[in-house]
Parts: sequence; C-alpha cells; structure tokens
Amino acid sequence: MKKFTVLFLLIILFIFSCTVLSFKRISSPDHHIRLRTDVNDDGLPYYLLKYHGKTVIDTSTLGFKFDKSTPPFGKLKVIERKYTLQRDESWEMPWGEQRFVEDNYNGVTVTFKEIEEPYRKLLVEFKVYNDGIGFRYILPEHEKLKDLVILDEKTEFNLKHDHDVWWIPGDWDIYEHLYNHTKLSEINALKYRSHASLAQSYIPYNAVNTPVTMKSEDGYYLSFHEANLTDYPGMTLKIDTINLTMTSELVGNADEVKAHISTPFKTPWRTIQLAEKAGDLIESKLIVNLNEPAKIDVSWFKPTKYMGIWWDMHIGTKSWDMASGRHGATTEYAKKYIDFCAENGIGALLVEGWNTGWEHWFGDFDREGVFDFVTPYPDYDLKEVVAYGKSKGVEIIMHHETSAAPRTYEAQLDTAYALMNELGISAVKTGYVGKIQPKGYYHHGQWMVKHYRKVIETASKYNIAVNAHEPIKATGIRRTYPNAISREGLRGQEFNAWSSDGGNPPDHLPTVAFTRMLAGPIDFTPGIFDIKLNPHKPDNQINTTLAHQLALYVVIYSPIQMVPDLIENYEGHPAFQFIRDVGVDWDESRVLDGEVGEFVTIARKERDTDTWFLGSITNEEPRKIDIHCDFLDKGKKYKAIIYSDGKDAHWDDNPYDYNIDTVDVYHRSDISIQLASGGGCAISFFVNEK
Ligand code: NOJ
Ligand code: CA
Repeated sequence: MKKFTVLFLLIILFIFSCTVLSFKRISSPDHHIRLRTDVNDDGLPYYLLKYHGKTVIDTSTLGFKFDKSTPPFGKLKVIERKYTLQRDESWEMPWGEQRFVEDNYNGVTVTFKEIEEPYRKLLVEFKVYNDGIGFRYILPEHEKLKDLVILDEKTEFNLKHDHDVWWIPGDWDIYEHLYNHTKLSEINALKYRSHASLAQSYIPYNAVNTPVTMKSEDGYYLSFHEANLTDYPGMTLKIDTINLTMTSELVGNADEVKAHISTPFKTPWRTIQLAEKAGDLIESKLIVNLNEPAKIDVSWFKPTKYMGIWWDMHIGTKSWDMASGRHGATTEYAKKYIDFCAENGIGALLVEGWNTGWEHWFGDFDREGVFDFVTPYPDYDLKEVVAYGKSKGVEIIMHHETSAAPRTYEAQLDTAYALMNELGISAVKTGYVGKIQPKGYYHHGQWMVKHYRKVIETASKYNIAVNAHEPIKATGIRRTYPNAISREGLRGQEFNAWSSDGGNPPDHLPTVAFTRMLAGPIDFTPGIFDIKLNPHKPDNQINTTLAHQLALYVVIYSPIQMVPDLIENYEGHPAFQFIRDVGVDWDESRVLDGEVGEFVTIARKERDTDTWFLGSITNEEPRKIDIHCDFLDKGKKYKAIIYSDGKDAHWDDNPYDYNIDTVDVYHRSDISIQLASGGGCAISFFVNEK
C-alpha cells in the first residue's frame, strides 16, 4: 500500500512538472508559431520564438534601464502565468481594407518577481496569433516603482540569421527615406546622417525604423513593428551587425532621458509578423488587433477621393505664400477645382496656403507663432469657398501646417476646430515640417507622441478626421480613434516633384507595400498623369508608367485617396475614367501575389457595390502577371476594363504608353498581363447585368 502511494505521488509529481514545463510554451491557434518564456540563469526574463519548427527569434532578453532614482530590477523569477484563449471573435471596421477582422489568439501574462527585496514585479503580456505575436510590458504600482525615468527599454530580437532586410534608418525626426535592401549584417543607417533632401533628420545610432521587413534564407518573412504607441516614445531597433541581433532604442530627447512614466503603466506592444508568403504580411491584421476597440463613433466620416490646390505648389506653378505673386489658394482657383471635383464625383478639395503665415514657415528660426489657423489671406474667401463647395457636394479639407511648432498648434486646437465645426468642415490635413520647436524635442519622442494623440482626441470631440503629414508612425490607433484616417510617414509622391536625388525609384512602392503599409493607411497621393512634369520641372519626373500610377489607387490603402494632378492633365484623358470609378472603402482585400521590392498584385472589393478593383505594380523588372479571377463572386459575370502598359511602355523612355481593353470575365477566368519596366496595371470589374 505504502509503495503504491509513493508511486502514485511520483507519477503526480512527474505530470505536474511536465505540465509546468510545457506551460512555458504557448502556440498560435494553428500551432505554426510557438513561443517560450522564462527567466535565464541571471534572473532576466526572456522569450524564444519558433515558426514551423524553426527558431526565428533565439533566446532574447527583456527589460529596462532606469535612471538612478530607481534601482534596476534584481534577479527575477516567474511566480505566475495567466493564460487566455480567444476564439471566434471578430470586429467590424467602420472603414478599412475589409469589413470584418478576425481576432483570435492564445495569450499568456507572465508575472516576474524579484527574488530579493524590494520584491517588485514586472509583467509581460504575450499574445500569439496565426499571423504573428505581440508582447508588452506591464509595470505595476509599487513603492519602489512609481515615477520612472526610463533611459531605455532593453528588448532584444535575437535573429541569429543574416536575413535580407528592407529598412529605413532609425531617424528620430522623419520617416521620409528611401528603403534600403541589404543583409542584416550590412545595415549602415549612419550613412544617412546628413540627408540633403530633408529639412529635418536625426540619426544617432545604427538603428532602423519600423516596420522593418525581412526574408529568411529558407523563404519565410518577418516584420517588426509596434502597436498602440501611447504616452511613450517611438521605438527604433539598434542593429548588432556581428551578432545579428536587434535591440529596442527608444527615441529620446537632448537630455538622454527617453521616457517619463508613472506606474501602473503598459508599454506599446512589440510586434513580430510572420508569414510564408510576402503578401500575407499585407493581409495581416495583427497591428489593429492589438489596439483597443473604438472609443468614438465615426459614422459622420465618409471615405472619399479628394483633389487639392497642392501639386501646383510642389511643381512651383503656384505658391502657398500670397506675397509670391503666384498664390494658389484664391477664391477663384478653389471654385475652379470644386467644379472639376463635382463633375467627376470627387468628394473633397484640400486647399493649402489659405491662412496667413506662409512667408515665414520654413527655415532655421523661431517658428512659434508663425501660423494661426483661423485667418485667411485676403484673396481667399474661406466662407464663400466652403459654401460654394457645399452647393456642389464637395467638402473642403482644412489644412493646418504647424511648421513643427506643436505648442502654437495646441494653444489653438479648440479655436481652429470650432471654426471648422462652424463651417461644416470635417477633415483636416496637418503638417510638421522642420525641426520641432523648441530644440531638444524630436518628432518621434514621447512629448510628440502625446501631442499627436492630443490632436486626434481633441479632433474626435469636434467630429473631425485627421490626415497627418510628418506624423508619428501608424500603430493601429485608427481602431480606437477611427477619426485618425490616414497619414504620410514615408517618402510620398511630392519627392518626385522636387527631390534632388532623382525622386522615388520604380521599386519604391513595391517595397512600401510590404513595409510602411503594414502599419496602416498611407496618404501617398498617387495618380500623377504628367509624368515628365513638363515644362515645370525639367530635372524631375515620376519614375513609373502611367498605368503604375493608376494601379496605386488599389495597391496603396487609404480611406482618402488624393487625385493630385492639375485639372488640365486629367481633362479629356481616357485613363482618368479609372480614377473616377475606383473605390476607396473595401469589403475585402486579397493580396494575390508579390515579392518585397519587386512586385505586388492586390484585388479589393468595394463596400456597398459588387465592384472589384485590381492593382498590380512592378519595379524596374518588366514581368508578366497571371491573374486567376477566383476572387470574383461566384455566379456573377463581370465586364473587366483593363488599363495596362502599352507594348513599348517604360518608366523613363515611354511612360505614357498605355492600353484600355474591355473583356468579359467570371470567377474561373484567367487574365495575363505584361507589366513594363516600372509599370503596372489597373482593372475595374463591374458586374455585367446582362
Ligand atoms: C509637407 C507635406 O507632406 C506636404 O503635403 C505639404 O504640402 C507641405 N508639407 C506643406 O504643408
Ligand atoms: Ca512630407
């Protein structure tokens, strides 16, 4: 009997220890991703990640560096693991790439505790989805863990392999860089330290910005980013080119302090997206899933195409500044654009240079107080323009260029938004060109993260939607505040108008689709038809074909899409029909094929209609794409209008050569299309009633 009891107890002990050990691991609902968490021999928390059985992140430690007012964490041990399992959950996007988003994961919150006094705790919450993982630190309140001065966060991503990486430098001030494609071991962000084309740029370390996307030798894809960046600095990733590791490097201030926080505090999620096909990265909804549900109703916001008194300024035919004698924002010019928008079903018009202050907006001087956001130049009758737009069904989009003086803007937020309410304007484009005033602050630091959020939150109270330029990176906040409709945060089309480095090369957008676009909507401003910018800019041009420009309306996602070229370049142009037709809000999006930096083909189904649209773009490599129309609704017949590169098209030698063909198709049809060098193709699929 006694022997039996001992044996029984031993078996129980064995089962218990096996369970505890195996519970150090959790996996994704489809079991392809496996995560292990524990402490190492030094009492430091770590995690390790496997994908299809391969180690993609080797043992990587987690932690913080505080200033001397807070003792560093001593040796930690695991005292608790709380598991969560979420299945059959989904939520609806008020506007977006798709209507419903599945939100299923396995999660664990691990509580680490100091083994000696003061016995403080550090929690790390992990969520493992089928498309990647997210984890965040939770710092609970404790007498010796209260008001913290964070010198840095020490989150490791131990890659161990020399992946192919598509990266931009970890600039504290601007994301407007071209993507580089190198091996991890060859990353050298410091060579971009003084970038001629940029008015603002600060790159202190050999670090990259996120999203940063990689391809492994055995063909899987990874992308690193963050979700729900709130009250905390943006994260760059410092590269160790020898040990093939990345470590978080938070954006700071001139005084070495990265963040001031008070416990209890949750950091943003650190995210790793994993995919077998490059296109699956684009379809991943990890970033929005890791954000809080909507706090506001945005039924007042309708996705739309919009024109602008804008490109004129970038190609120099007009100016923001009235004193120039070439003022763009005049009552008369705005009315001309409103008429054209109304005739072509374009719902809104952005007017830049409408308010006083543009004489002094740019340059190395005190820019506080330069702009106010209520006083129009005398040749622009704001009220009359808005009323005229309303009479034609075209809304004016307000413009607030802050010239990187955020305190001036904050002081006027309520006045400026009250004016917009009074006029019935529901969207604003903001801008932060230049070095942040005062010195010592950076666009991506904690103070500015809070500023950008304050703008979104204040705007939400006035039912105003925000499209930010020179923004903080998108981290899925659009889920919680869906009035954060779009943003720049990349080298946009405008670089093609004035950049002295030749503009955005043909592989720019085939790269952006797999990097920056994983973060969220992009106000890229596609659709320039006057590719050679003749005669205005003899040394600049758009480095794509015309068909590539059309395709961008589908490839690049934003609930507001600009139609940026001058009226005369669209008027009477047969290809303009695609821009008139193309949707801006989607029920479904499918990435049909693609390779980072090479090409991508995306099909999207418009909300509230049966119409599908497809866009495909390529880099300098001409290629044939085979489209299986199996995304089309079964049982329906469609008329496909295909806008493709002409036989002799080439982004530089012959960018204007294009064809328009119409064919009948259904879900079993195949379409083959030749894309030119720097080319593309755009297709509208209308349900054929016959
Ligand atoms: C930079 C923005 O990206 C651009 O769109 C805008 O026209 C200028 N700033 C002026 O605000
Ligand atoms: Ca910009």
